[in-house]
Amino acid sequence: MMSTPVIELSGVSRRYQEGPAALDQVSLTVRAGESVAIVGPSGSGKSTMLNLIAGLDRPSAGTVTVDGTRVDALSEAGSARFRRAKIGMVFQFFNLLDDLTVADNVMLPAEMAGTGRGAARRRAGELLAALGIERHARAYPGRLSGGERQRVAVARSLMNRPPLLLADEPTGALDSASGEDVKALLNELHADGQTIVTVTHDLTLAQACATRTVTIADGRIAADVRTEAVR
Ligand SMILES: Nc1ncnc2c1ncn2[C@@H]1O[C@H](COP(=O)(O)OP(=O)(O)OP(=O)(O)O)[C@@H](O)[C@H]1O
Ligand SMILES: [Mg+2]
Repeated sequence: MMSTPVIELSGVSRRYQEGPAALDQVSLTVRAGESVAIVGPSGSGKSTMLNLIAGLDRPSAGTVTVDGTRVDALSEAGSARFRRAKIGMVFQFFNLLDDLTVADNVMLPAEMAGTGRGAARRRAGELLAALGIERHARAYPGRLSGGERQRVAVARSLMNRPPLLLADEPTGALDSASGEDVKALLNELHADGQTIVTVTHDLTLAQACATRTVTIADGRIAADVRTEAVR
């Protein structure tokens, strides 16, 4: 019954020079197909945890394993390669490149991974169609609404078929209707088997999309509750 772990944090701490540990001996296993919401007050360590999982930051102690790779032990180049192959990321403010078209933004991860342009273009077209924004393929992101931009960011995150999708406040900059669209999208991806970890202040997102809600407080796991996503 138990599927393979996609994420394994073991005794993970992250300390900065000043102040208490941003993350304090956290252990957490996320299995394939789970959709986990990370919630907790501002400053509790949610983004810190996501960045450690993505290899964007290194723990002060403990080990981070993602899809069999010891992320905490990678070099900078190795960590960039790891992210291209294994991680899709979606952020609050989309992080799209404004001087590339929507299609080129979506294709970028494939090009960086060395995928041929034809294959990348086909996959980008499929993703944009699946997300209902293919008509904007040749537009520049600046012309799109927030909800549409977030769909482009999701398409880009899925370009290389990552085993893990990480999202940090994906509805944080959206009006409620666009936020609902993004939640529905996360739900569809989960239904398709995508493993997802979403950091959010939005408890309705946790309730609507997650099969498990992990609450962080003061750098520690304060609660870890299994739920059933409402479909
Ligand atoms: N580069 C840094 N240097 C020093 N302290 C930092 C640094 N980055 C984060 N912190 C501290 O670590 C703690 C956790 O920050 P983190 O960004 O993970 O919180 P968060 O839960 O994501 O908050 P929010 O909900 O506001 O995004 C905070 O106290 C923060 O001030
Ligand atoms: Mg944060």
